Amino acid sequence: MDLIVTADYAALSRTAADRIAETIAANPTAAIVAATGDTPMGAYRELAARRRRDAIRTDRLRVFQLDEYLGIGPEDRRSLYGWMERAFLAPLGIPAARVVRLNGTASDLAATCRAYDETVCAAGGFDLAILGLGPNGHLGFNEPPTAPDAPTRVVDLTPESVASNARYWGDPEEVPRRALTAGMEVLLAARQTLLLVSGASKRAILHRVVDGPAVSDVPASLLQRSAGVTILADEAAWGVNSAVGGG
Ligand code: PGA
Repeated sequence: MDLIVTADYAALSRTAADRIAETIAANPTAAIVAATGDTPMGAYRELAARRRRDAIRTDRLRVFQLDEYLGIGPEDRRSLYGWMERAFLAPLGIPAARVVRLNGTASDLAATCRAYDETVCAAGGFDLAILGLGPNGHLGFNEPPTAPDAPTRVVDLTPESVASNARYWGDPEEVPRRALTAGMEVLLAARQTLLLVSGASKRAILHRVVDGPAVSDVPASLLQRSAGVTILADEAAWGVNSAVGGG
């Protein structure tokens, strides 16, 4: 894993946008799994600005949804698909036909999950995974403990994730208790991964991801065994005086 520490969130977002733009320039039809959550929003805004200047072309990308709450449709304000649409798909002009959803209201959830993994596989795997880091070390909703070969599936959210996601909707009671998540196996196999981490609240878990052993109890630490992983952290998350590890 490579670790890049930036001065602040703005620099983290610009650096992430640079990396994503390089991938898109090299492969305009890249298969990308794109997280929601607060952390990648600055990078997405930066990409949208570059698109408005015609500096990048994004409409041929193939975009995969990372996770979704169970029983929540796109019209619900908590829908992660809705969030991805507002923050990523619409500003980057990606047509619905080029998006692979995780539908939390599907009647046959097992079939939905199987179809998702088959579609990722048919696409040749993810070219790029843009991920955030959960306060409990989750990737997507791969909650601890998660085995490295876990498929795309329905999961129960941990109390930590419920509490953390309450930030988005203002009330823990609003956060659904179950979700669909892209599996650990397809995420760990991505050819390139950007793990974006911002803020002092992530410092302890970030150091476990980078410096600790690769263990299922810290799902993101399993990235240590994957190729092409870059962690982009701001100084608030990494700590100004910490030696830069990774490699
Ligand atoms: P955040 O979420 O980017 O809003 O901190 C990350 C996550 O919980 O996966």
